[in-house]
Amino acid sequence: MLNIGKHKEPKVRRAGIVSVGKYIPEGVMTNFDIEKIVDTSDEWIRGRTGICERHFVTNGQRQSDLALNASREALARVGWTPQDLDMVIVGTVTPDHIFPSSANTLAGKLGAIGVPSFDILAACSGFMYSLHQGMVSIVSGMADRVLVVGSEVMSSIMNWQDRTTCVLFGDAAGAVLLEEVEEPYGIVDYEIGSDGRYYDLLYMPGGGSAQPATHESIDKAMHTLHMEGSETFKFAVRSMYKTATDLLKRNGVDPEDLGLFIGHQANIRIIDAVTKRLKLRDDQVYNNINKYGNTTSATIPLCIHEAEEQGMIKKGDWVVLVSFGAGLTWAGTLIKWGIDPLPSVAAAEAADAASDTYSEKLKPGRDWVKR
Ligand SMILES: CC(C)(COP(=O)(O)OP(=O)(O)OC[C@H]1O[C@@H](n2cnc3c(N)ncnc32)[C@H](O)[C@@H]1OP(=O)(O)O)[C@@H](O)C(=O)NCCC(=O)NCCS
Repeated sequence: MLNIGKHKEPKVRRAGIVSVGKYIPEGVMTNFDIEKIVDTSDEWIRGRTGICERHFVTNGQRQSDLALNASREALARVGWTPQDLDMVIVGTVTPDHIFPSSANTLAGKLGAIGVPSFDILAACSGFMYSLHQGMVSIVSGMADRVLVVGSEVMSSIMNWQDRTTCVLFGDAAGAVLLEEVEEPYGIVDYEIGSDGRYYDLLYMPGGGSAQPATHESIDKAMHTLHMEGSETFKFAVRSMYKTATDLLKRNGVDPEDLGLFIGHQANIRIIDAVTKRLKLRDDQVYNNINKYGNTTSATIPLCIHEAEEQGMIKKGDWVVLVSFGAGLTWAGTLIKWGIDPLPSVAAAEAADAASDTYSEKLKPGRDWVKR
């Protein structure tokens, strides 16, 4: 019999997203700022990628700090405390340290002590792989409440002499909370895969056991990301289109009836190619790459957060999330959105203050909520 974390009898049930949080660091770098560093132009970056600006950490902020802020928002919006969590999963390629895991650090900072916590390394599919693992844990009855985070400090692994990559990425974190939900709502279907033959299309050559840090590895910029852009581009379009199509067909959902499509934000041309093939209307697609660039595992939860906030996802809507990334990896899910509009942290706290019962219930542990 399995015995993971807080063990429960294995059973099958439906998992759903019940809250979402995000954190965007304050430092902003526009395309015009990048023009001063490498031979590029706002026109080229905007036209070839859709990116106008990106945010970067300042004042020594760590990846776990970004994750912490996003997690706190997600928790506060539904009045959960860190002690309510059964599991913490972080998708990231930029942990504070190679070990211990970023999720260990996050759980410690949150005060979720004794809770199983681990990272999933699937690059830009890291959040989607983590979401899958969180869903499986709830579906099987191994966990009741799971925090899933995508958090990155991509600025720590960028090569500022390589114009083909340094214009693309940004730092940010997004978080969701998963819990059992009633059918027909929640995560209805999932698809997840990898093809490791192409591991070196997008990777960081140095820093792992194959190439520990040496003076030479640093001189050769091996501790920064390397990418074959056009091959990655083709794979991205193929894999996101196939994953989304499989999910829709398998569940009898006509693309025309899709409420919202959220694709990994790597390049607006990739997303446009996929959504055009799917014949989706503009109002069925949410993008924010113009503001943040590619924040790797954070892009999808950031989009969910903003689309939910702007009323673009409503209870009962079909939502498709799809990602691709280094590995190569891909993942997608079909969700029947099952929650009413989420309150802001301020509104949740006001409701908390106005209700004695609610307030009493939430008092223990509430002093960690960021004000
Ligand atoms: C990286 C990417 C934006 C490049 O766009 P592209 O249209 O494929 O451009 P190419 O690589 O064919 O390069 C075209 C030209 O632009 C140049 N170029 C590349 N980056 C440039 C930049 N930042 N500014 C100006 N020119 C640039 C190239 O040197 C090349 O010049 P050349 O024709 O003289 O050799 C695009 O391939 C891409 O988005 N790939 C996928 C990236 C991705 O998804 N990464 C994350 C995976 S999770």
